[in-house]
Amino acid sequence: MTIKENYLRAASESLARLDNSYSYFPEEDTPVFVKGKGVRLYDPDGNEYLDMVSGYGALNQGHTHPKIVASLLAQANRLTHTSATLSDVKVELAEKLATLSPIPNTKVHFDLGGARVVEGAKILTRAYTGKSKVISFQNSFHGRSTGSLSLYNADTFQHLFNSPRDYYSAPYPYCYRCPVGLKKESCNFECLKGVYEILDNNNDIGGIIVEPALGARGYIVPPKGFFKKLRRICDKYGLLFIDDEIQMGLGRLGTMFACEYYETVPDIILLSKSIAGGMWPLSVILGRKEIMERIRPGTLGSTFAGAPLGCAAGLAAIEVIEEEKLCERSRDLGVYFMEKLNERFSEYSIVGNIDGIGLGIGIELVLPNGEPATEEAQMLQLTALRNGLLLQRGGPAKNIINLIPALVITKSEIDEAIDRIEENLIKVLHEPEIIEHISSVKSSSDSEVV
Ligand SMILES: Cc1ncc(COP(=O)(O)O)c(C=O)c1O
Repeated sequence: MTIKENYLRAASESLARLDNSYSYFPEEDTPVFVKGKGVRLYDPDGNEYLDMVSGYGALNQGHTHPKIVASLLAQANRLTHTSATLSDVKVELAEKLATLSPIPNTKVHFDLGGARVVEGAKILTRAYTGKSKVISFQNSFHGRSTGSLSLYNADTFQHLFNSPRDYYSAPYPYCYRCPVGLKKESCNFECLKGVYEILDNNNDIGGIIVEPALGARGYIVPPKGFFKKLRRICDKYGLLFIDDEIQMGLGRLGTMFACEYYETVPDIILLSKSIAGGMWPLSVILGRKEIMERIRPGTLGSTFAGAPLGCAAGLAAIEVIEEEKLCERSRDLGVYFMEKLNERFSEYSIVGNIDGIGLGIGIELVLPNGEPATEEAQMLQLTALRNGLLLQRGGPAKNIINLIPALVITKSEIDEAIDRIEENLIKVLHEPEIIEHISSVKSSSDSEVV
């Protein structure tokens, strides 16, 4: 029996008490990790995993980056908590973010996690525009707190409670399966007609909340002009442009802020995940000063929001992005990754589409009739896990394999990832017993995981 099995057996009583429904693997396959370094994870038996998920984009700087670890340790020995008062590192991080921010006259608010700053953006929109609703996009993900769930179409949760429906849902430009049935080259953003229709028929809308590319629900990348079009709509109708970069920000798309890739300046930018290198739950609202100052002091906040430990980690995490040129790395390695994936998988009819910017790439698996190959994607994910390769799966039909490695990944690790994806895909395609076995285990296709 392996150490992991022993561990699971010994811990079975406590595991029974642990809500592990967040895990997207069947219980016996749920990995237990004890160590991480760069793009590698290790289980108690010393088995190594190549991590192409990076904590759902929370580890752009890689696992246990020494500089961020050192800053946390030093801060833990110096000052850990001040609550509502200031700390030197909080002021320093706010200054750094305001300087980097593409929004002129940026004011910074710190919080504890992604969903909380989504809720913050909702409050700011209401305060600044006097209107409580937003336009959000189909297949988006903005968190699972009741406030964030009120802003987008999250069917999985809606049956549980009567949350206020403070959104109108518009189609996202998912060009591989165009929501209005057109071709990307000649569509002229026809899908945005949905946004205009909503705006022409309602006068209670204060903002548009959008992801720079769909993350949790599959890496779906809009055409580059999308953000500029939205900016124009926001200007025309007096709406706030809320850019949810919680998953795509901080170098992932090859620029520090994802909106910079689109050459567009939003009114509010939301950050979390990699902002503290995945080592502390920190999140951020960057907003125009006049928006941020429209609320009464103390409206946004939480006991541990902007705690010194998070801010120290945040300062180190940004330094790592700058010093190691992670934006440039992501841009260059992203091009390399896409080229190699396209070369390798061009002959595989199950690979319908490969889409991505920087180191955020989605491989969409399809059946011969073009329908989503959801079961095969699930099998690939599970087979890969059993062979030491961690993959994420998303997309509206959960048939997209998302590749979101840490930005410190090397070319040879990218080559290794491609080889291992292919090896596991071949297993799925040619070993029918895998299909049989996997069909019999718990399906995770209905759980929302990010
Ligand atoms: C785009 C986006 N917004 C919001 C969230 C919610 O963040 P959190 O899980 O920290 O609440 C996520 C989480 O994956 C996300 O990807």
